[in-house]
Amino acid sequence: MYRYPVAEPDLGEEELRNVIEAVKSGWISSKGKFIEDFERAFANYIGVKYGIATSNGTTALHLALVALGIGSGDEVIVPDITFAATINAVLYTGAKPVIVDIHPEYWCMDPDKVEKAITSRTKAIIPVHLYGHPCDMDPIMEIASKHSLYVIEDVAEAHGAEYKGKKAGSFGHVSCFSFYGNKIITTGEGGMVLTNDCELAERMRMLRDHGMNPKKRYWHEVIGFNYRMTNLQAAIGLAQLNKIDRFIEKKRRIAKIYAEELSGIPGITLHPEMPWAKNVYWLYSILIDSSKAAITRDELSEKLEKEGIETRKFFYPLHEMPIYAKYSVYSYPVATTISRQGLNLPSSTKLTEEDVKFIARKIKESILSWKTL
Ligand SMILES: Cc1ncc(COP(=O)(O)O)c(C=O)c1O
Repeated sequence: MYRYPVAEPDLGEEELRNVIEAVKSGWISSKGKFIEDFERAFANYIGVKYGIATSNGTTALHLALVALGIGSGDEVIVPDITFAATINAVLYTGAKPVIVDIHPEYWCMDPDKVEKAITSRTKAIIPVHLYGHPCDMDPIMEIASKHSLYVIEDVAEAHGAEYKGKKAGSFGHVSCFSFYGNKIITTGEGGMVLTNDCELAERMRMLRDHGMNPKKRYWHEVIGFNYRMTNLQAAIGLAQLNKIDRFIEKKRRIAKIYAEELSGIPGITLHPEMPWAKNVYWLYSILIDSSKAAITRDELSEKLEKEGIETRKFFYPLHEMPIYAKYSVYSYPVATTISRQGLNLPSSTKLTEEDVKFIARKIKESILSWKTL
């Protein structure tokens, strides 16, 4: 147990009340009033018409890909830096993922690299809004429209983030969210797909429920899945959704303190926020360039660990892992560098301002004293 975790669920009385209500009602599986209420309220919050709650964020991605008809012979473009679920979901369908490099300024998929990766087999692009910062959606949507491609936003790490004043998850044909315990809002395990396309929403509902015809029980139209969310999860989700703006405000406050305390240190790059972006700083992150900071990212992480301060090294680039290496057809200089330098810092909404200042002070002390000790 860390004194200062990178992330943790922030639950209270409202979640408890809703769960008790669900338990007392007896509706603890995937039927019950909280599911539809949560779907409607979350879709409305993001600014999209339909929400399809799922068992987790990975099944949300898989459901979306299958419902869009993506499979063997198709190519889907994914960024080199993301959680493995993004590429795994593509692989489950039999389609071929095509990995592209990230942008040096904001660490998400680089639209120029996407354009260059398009072939006659490309069917979809999955922009991942990484660590709370949105992708540059205008060029991605333009490329998709020019080549008639689907855009599946992966918003697992950026609930409530904005691009040019509109919420991430409202740009693509579909968008997928995760509500895992470390996410901005959580249902324990859980996810959701959003879309404005009524027919696609119906198809996803059917596929989520074993491909069963919703009007003819136990008549199966296609081979579907059990990707349903439970009423218990949705009960927690609905209570969390009431607090989402407070959580985001707190994340942004934490980011402001880190930025004030850590700016001007040689070799440290702060978590960016592009002029067109509202970063929700799911995990406040820094880059440590050891040629200038006189400490490596790994040395800093170890020092902080001894103080009870949890940190998380950035995702490994997908192209470096042997199981995904065959999907790397380009070069990835930006992802390679950023992955080695990046560190996620404690960003729990339960941290006090004093906690964040204490952590920042420890980071500063570690960096400034390291080689002179
Ligand atoms: C970018 C990204 N996509 C997808 C997922 C998968 O979500 P889940 O863990 O709910 O399956 C996660 C995280 O967990 C993620 O960070």
